[in-house]
Amino acid sequence: MKITISEQAQYSTQIVFIFEGSKPSIVDFEGKKEEISVRYNNENTKIYCGLGPKKNCTDEIVRSAAGVAIRKGADLKRSELSVIVPVLKRKGVRAAQAAVEGILLGSYTFTKYKSDNKTSIKKVEVVTKDLSLSAVKALAKIKEGVFLTRDLVNDNASVITPQKLAEEAKKIAAKNKQLSCTILSEKEIDKKGLGLLKAVGQGAPYPPRLIILQYKGNAKSKETTAIVGKGITFDSGGLNLKPSGYIETMRTDMAGAAAVLGTMKTIAALKPSINVIGVVAAAYNANDGDSYFPGDIYTSYSGKTVEIHNTDAEGRLVLADAISYCIKNYKPTEIVDLATLTGAIVIALGDMAAGLFSNNDSVAEKLAKAGDACNEKLWRMPLSEVHSDSMKGELADLRNMSKLPKRHAGSSAAAAFLMAFVEDTSWAHLDIAGVAFNDRESRGETPKFATGFGVRLLLTYLLGKSFGLA
Ligand code: BES
Ligand code: ZN
Ligand code: ZN
Repeated sequence: MKITISEQAQYSTQIVFIFEGSKPSIVDFEGKKEEISVRYNNENTKIYCGLGPKKNCTDEIVRSAAGVAIRKGADLKRSELSVIVPVLKRKGVRAAQAAVEGILLGSYTFTKYKSDNKTSIKKVEVVTKDLSLSAVKALAKIKEGVFLTRDLVNDNASVITPQKLAEEAKKIAAKNKQLSCTILSEKEIDKKGLGLLKAVGQGAPYPPRLIILQYKGNAKSKETTAIVGKGITFDSGGLNLKPSGYIETMRTDMAGAAAVLGTMKTIAALKPSINVIGVVAAAYNANDGDSYFPGDIYTSYSGKTVEIHNTDAEGRLVLADAISYCIKNYKPTEIVDLATLTGAIVIALGDMAAGLFSNNDSVAEKLAKAGDACNEKLWRMPLSEVHSDSMKGELADLRNMSKLPKRHAGSSAAAAFLMAFVEDTSWAHLDIAGVAFNDRESRGETPKFATGFGVRLLLTYLLGKSFGLA
C-alpha cells in the first residue's frame, strides 16, 4: 500500500470522518463513535465514519474509527482511497497522526494461504494540513514493523522455526550498518552453558537459537535498553502435554520474539539516536523422546539451578537464560521482556491490557504511559517476596512452578522467577498472553488473529516524540 499526502482529495472513494452533532447533516447518520455509512453519488463513494462528540474525541477514538473505515474500504474492494483527516485542534490530541495510524494498522490482512490473495487497497491519499510527509513516512515504517510481527505470529509453526527467526533477524541487520546480528547455534548454546534454553529445545527437530541484534545509534550515550522476547515457536507443553482447547494456538507463543524483531525492523529503518539490543530466545517445546523431563534439575547460564515441576512452564526458562546472557555480555542499563508467559494473565486481564511487572517504578510508569498513548495498554501487577519465595527450590535453587496453591497468582510467580535473573538491572516484564492474539473479531486498528502487540508500545517508549512526528 502506497501512502501519499495532499491538500485535495483526488480519488472517487473517500473516507470522511464526522463528529456527532456537526454539520452538514447526513440523512440517517448521526456520527456516533464508529458508526459507518456508505453513500454513492454517480461514480463517487463516500465512507462516512462517526467519531462521537468533538469535545470527547481522543486519539484513541480517531485511530480506532480509522481502522474500521479502512476495513470498509477493503470490503468494497477499492484499490485507491482518499482519507479526509478530521481537524481537531486540542492540546495533547494528534488526530491526524491517529487517523493515519488507524488506516495503516487496520488495512492488514494475512492472505498467504488464500488462493485469492490479492490485497485490494493499493494507494491511500491522506488529505490533511496537520501532518508532514516525513511524519507519514515514519508512521509507514512503524506499520512495517507491526506487519512483520503479525505475519510471523500468524504463520505456521512448521514455517516459523527458531532458525527462521534467526534468518529474519539477519535480514533486519543487513538493512543498517549500525546493526549487528549474532546467532548462537544449538552447539554454542550448549557450550556456553545456556542450560535452560538447551533443555527446553532438546526434544525438537528444529534446534533452539539465541538471537541478538545490537543497534548502536548513539555512541555518546551510556544508556542501552535491551528488549527480550520469548520465542517458543510451538508450545506443545512438552511431556506435560497441553490438552485440546489449549494447544491449538500455540504457534503464537513466539509473539514476544516477533514483537522484538518487528521493533528492530522499524528501528533499522528510522535510525534513531539511541542504543537498543534485541534478544530472542527461540525454541520449540516439543513432546518427544528427547524432551526434557519433569522432575529433573537443569543448570542455567547464571549458574542457578532449576527443578522442573512442569515442562509447560518453559517460557520463563528460556527467558531466564536470555536475560542472564544479555546482562553478562552486553550490560544493558535496562531490560524490557515480552512474553506470552501465563494463562493466568488472560484470566486476570483478558485482552484489555498486558500485565506489567517491574522492579523499577519509574520504568513501569513510563511504559504504562507509552501504552496509553498508542493504545497498547499495560496494567501493573503485584510482584513481592511472597511470589519470590514461592519459586524457591528444594533440591535446586529455584523451581519453575510456584508452591502457592493451584490457580493462585500464576503470573506474579512467573514474573518473580524472571526477577531472580535480572540482578540489579532495571527491568520490566510484559505478559502479553492475552493481547498478542485476537480470537474475537477485528476491532478498531486491531485485526482478528495476530495483533502485533508490543511493537508500537516499545517504539513509543524508546523514541518518545523524537522522530519528527507532528
Ligand atoms: N505459553 C503458555 C502461556 C499461554 C497461555 C500463552 C495461553 C498464550 C495463551 C505458557 O508456556 C504456559 O503454558 N504456562 C503455564 C504455566 C504453568 C504450567 C505453571 C500456564 O499458564 O498454565
Ligand atoms: Zn507452556
Ligand atoms: Zn509457552
